[in-house]
Amino acid sequence: MSTSDDKRPQGAGTRVTHAGRRPEWSGRVVNTPVWRASTHLYESEAERKAAIGANHDGQFFYGRRGAPTQWALADALTEIEPGAFGTVLYPSGVAAIAGCLLAVLRPDDHLLMSDNAYDPTRSMATGLLKRMGITHSFFDPLDMAGFEALVADTKPRAVWFESPGSLTMEVCDVPALAAIARDAKAVTLMDNTWASGLGFAALENGCDIVMQSLSKHVGGHSDLMMGSASASERWYNALRLTSQQLGQIVSPDDAALAARGLRTMKVRLEQSTQSALKIAQWLSGHEKIEHVLCPLLPGAPGHDLWKRDFTGGCGLFSFVLKSDDPEASGKVADALDIFGIGYSWGGFESLVLPIYPDNDRSVMKPPTNCGAKSAVRLSIGLEDPENLIADLEQALGQLDN
Ligand SMILES: Cc1ncc(COP(=O)(O)O)c(C=O)c1O
Repeated sequence: MSTSDDKRPQGAGTRVTHAGRRPEWSGRVVNTPVWRASTHLYESEAERKAAIGANHDGQFFYGRRGAPTQWALADALTEIEPGAFGTVLYPSGVAAIAGCLLAVLRPDDHLLMSDNAYDPTRSMATGLLKRMGITHSFFDPLDMAGFEALVADTKPRAVWFESPGSLTMEVCDVPALAAIARDAKAVTLMDNTWASGLGFAALENGCDIVMQSLSKHVGGHSDLMMGSASASERWYNALRLTSQQLGQIVSPDDAALAARGLRTMKVRLEQSTQSALKIAQWLSGHEKIEHVLCPLLPGAPGHDLWKRDFTGGCGLFSFVLKSDDPEASGKVADALDIFGIGYSWGGFESLVLPIYPDNDRSVMKPPTNCGAKSAVRLSIGLEDPENLIADLEQALGQLDN
């Protein structure tokens, strides 16, 4: 929970530099130390008893409710998330997704989920939640009229957005979709991992709960798994309670790493966004590329909404090859030297991943005409973009058509 009472407007760079730093937790050192502790000791039995009922943020109790290292990170994330009252940390992004959905949904509720949501999020709807008697429908986030009709028809308890969508990067009109959902009294949740709070103010654009995988931009160094969810006071309390009931806690060592990553996140994001745009522009003129799926790119699907609603981007985008060879994306990945083949994104190093988005869609036509074509996702890191372009040029040059 934010304890800052300084309401002066500050730029994002100033906020990520100073957010969550409390002299009462860090003393004279710059960073909050790693408080590695399960047991917290009480001065007296009276103090122990008082702590049980209180359950306040920032109160020593027992390791499962964290200690200053985790509290400082949660506070920092709250301070950089416009409109947030508090933030809950989870041991991974997927754990955050589960924590959000379990905090909101009850048996017999209906969930509407964007069809281009991250595959494990979709699996949560079709697996875990279904077993609990929670039904779901997937919706096409680009079809406003269809969404409105589905909301009227299914009376959802909750709606899940992800924008840009996983793999195919469609940007949807979150403010308009969220307004429809709110009018129908549905709780709106968003996976905002791509943009983070620096690039898209999800709560101020109509969402009740915003989650992100901190394993990506906040960690930034490919050495950490963590997730978070931020919300207004009402939903923060529900998230926190569910997370405590599930026994969710992150290690203080990982919290310290995430806090370190956070300090440089803005400059890393700016650099990788600039490089991604340069590379996307180059790819869009390449003879072996059918489309580039990158909202940063003028003229690409989603660019206008991205420009209207977002204040930043990141280095993650995809492209579709012209080749009819279903193995073409794998061949490109194998031929690349600088890009590593691997899951995740948002690290300092560039990654490539052959993708098959049509396997993870229920209602969306391949809006990006992937169809049977081979597609590739790139996460652009901090290398010189000219070197990455040269690597892509030689790898694409090895394709037959
Ligand atoms: C959009 C999106 N959300 C959530 C996650 C899950 O995060 P984590 O890997 O930290 O569990 C990922 C991971 O790739 C992702 O791409």
